[in-house]
Amino acid sequence: MDEALKIQALRRQLETYAREYYIQDAPTVTDQEYDRLMHELQALEAAHPELADPNSPTQRVIGAVLPGFEKYSHGQRMLSLGDIFSRQELEEFVARIRKEYPDAQFVAECKYDGLAMALHYENGRFIRAVTRGDGMTGEVVSANVRTIRSIPMYIDEPGFVEVRGEVYMPKKSFETLNELQTTLHLPLFANPRNAAAGSIRNLDTSVAASRNLDIFLYWYQNGPEHGIRTQSQALQAMQELGFPVNMDVSVCDTVDEIWAFIEKTGAQRASLPYEIDGVVIKVNSLEQEAALGLNAKTPRYAIAYKFPAQEVQTTLDDIFLTIGRTGVATPNAVLTPVRVAGTLVSAASLHNEDLIRDRDLRIGDTVIVRKAGDIIPEVIASVKERRTGSQIPYVFPKTCPVCGSELIRLEGEADHFCTNPDCPAQVLGSLIHFVSREAMNIDGLGEKKMAQLHEAHLLDTIPDIYHLAEKRQDVLALRGWSDKGFDKLLANIDASRQRPLADLLFGLGIRLVGKKAASLLADSFGSMDAVMAADQETLAAVKFIGRTTAESLTTWFAQPANRQLLAALKDAGLNMTQEKKEAAPADSFFAGKTVVLTGTLTGMSRSEAKKLLESLGATVAGSVSKKTSLVIYGENAGSKLAKARDLGVETMPEETFLAEAGHAA
Ligand code: IVH
Repeated sequence: MDEALKIQALRRQLETYAREYYIQDAPTVTDQEYDRLMHELQALEAAHPELADPNSPTQRVIGAVLPGFEKYSHGQRMLSLGDIFSRQELEEFVARIRKEYPDAQFVAECKYDGLAMALHYENGRFIRAVTRGDGMTGEVVSANVRTIRSIPMYIDEPGFVEVRGEVYMPKKSFETLNELQTTLHLPLFANPRNAAAGSIRNLDTSVAASRNLDIFLYWYQNGPEHGIRTQSQALQAMQELGFPVNMDVSVCDTVDEIWAFIEKTGAQRASLPYEIDGVVIKVNSLEQEAALGLNAKTPRYAIAYKFPAQEVQTTLDDIFLTIGRTGVATPNAVLTPVRVAGTLVSAASLHNEDLIRDRDLRIGDTVIVRKAGDIIPEVIASVKERRTGSQIPYVFPKTCPVCGSELIRLEGEADHFCTNPDCPAQVLGSLIHFVSREAMNIDGLGEKKMAQLHEAHLLDTIPDIYHLAEKRQDVLALRGWSDKGFDKLLANIDASRQRPLADLLFGLGIRLVGKKAASLLADSFGSMDAVMAADQETLAAVKFIGRTTAESLTTWFAQPANRQLLAALKDAGLNMTQEKKEAAPADSFFAGKTVVLTGTLTGMSRSEAKKLLESLGATVAGSVSKKTSLVIYGENAGSKLAKARDLGVETMPEETFLAEAGHAA
């Protein structure tokens, strides 16, 4: 029995030494002494296999491949927080609580951007780590979490302890990891959060062990059972038990104090060694917390303030043009790579000549870059004070960089176009669009294969797709083709002849005719011939088809080349008709609105909500812009909701949408 005690003492001793060494950077013993004790423990454990413990310092970094992750039902749901984006919303949050507790105090903490984790201990021993999962049920990832060195496996607290926190990957480790991925020709991780989550969910524990993950604990789930009365005490107690806790928090009595913490933290954000995306504000008293309870899905006692899109400075090194499938010439910024909101940005679309002029962007300028909705990088301005005189104003090229033809800009339009309908960039682009999943959905003609066939002149035009069978020998002579593969492709091409009229209309790539417009046109005209015969008035009379779209359609159908194209497709046996359908009722609240769905919907699936909205006459879009009329949000809505609020776009919680839709339907 003596030896069992000895083993236990050694494990704790070594854990303390390791923490001093790795975490506090202040070793109190020499490496030799540490190694000696480690060997002693290894020898004792080898002699007593019955005392084996996966928490032992001898086991923590050894890799094992797991068969899978067990599921675990959280005793108490792991909640997510409601988001706010302004001081006004903060004031409202504080006022709501003050109504019930006039003297309420708050704790403001960083909102770490990683993945939530619950750690369980039983009589001082670590027993499991569970991910958030859907909030009710998570996955047991103890083996991977054991590789996080800063987490104590032994704590001085009897009974059951559950603490919660955020596992994250420090910015430095993330950069090193992506450098390694580059060297190994492996895909890069988009941001530290994804990298951390991927590591924790890897079945090979040596992966997590190599990823240098860390954790901050911010929640003592069953603190009250251990005499904890406030959130600030909880943080203190967790730190004393040996957990990594960020004590740079602020206990606040007023909105001003909370706001000061938000501003201070926002200013430090870029220089912190880990990613944060906001500040969490919690009621300090746990008694008040318990009494305040929950809204439908999120706590009433805590809220997350999200920082606005991050802005950084970098250099505009160059501007180059790309030619799209409709011939539009888009200028793009080449930027000195810079990290924005967690990802590396080295390019951004500049959209058109006017934007470059309005924002006064010159090559060599220091520019301000941010992520619109935290996703798409955008160059918002140049920093005039940083000009040295060597910056060069951008002159929009007169010729297409792909085919050398003239680029023109029509009156009243912002875009330049390549005037050559046979421009390879356009031709290939339109071929790729035609076969894409949303259009004719021809599997087996990916971009690479398409480019290969196009280059070999086996696919010069869209109708050539339907004559590919005649070119079997030529195709098989190319790299990467087999009889079997070719037959499969022919079968897919054949099947595409029956695709709905709307898909064909969309596949033609007529400017401004997206999926939605194509389906409205197909529904109200019932055949390609009828669409072609319609004049601008008739087209614009279709609900939700605007004047410009109508004009784009008549212009397209008027071109002899396009009429020939359609005749050739008809000859090739493509379906050109469908039954006419009634248009959606125009009197619903949603009719004519461009709606964006965001967050997790609980009442129905995303695609059901989309269908419902479309049946009520709305167009459902994927991203928020000034043109968005309404954003409907579910749980955990993030950047899209933030952007909508930034832009002053109307927002609506899911419940209201369901109620409205119910009335209207
Ligand atoms: S407290 C009921 N504190 O943000 C309180 N959460 O949407 C539970 N997070 O799921 C969370 N930093 O993963 C809390 N200092 C912090 C946090 C934090 C990051 C995460 C957590 C949670 C999400 C909220």
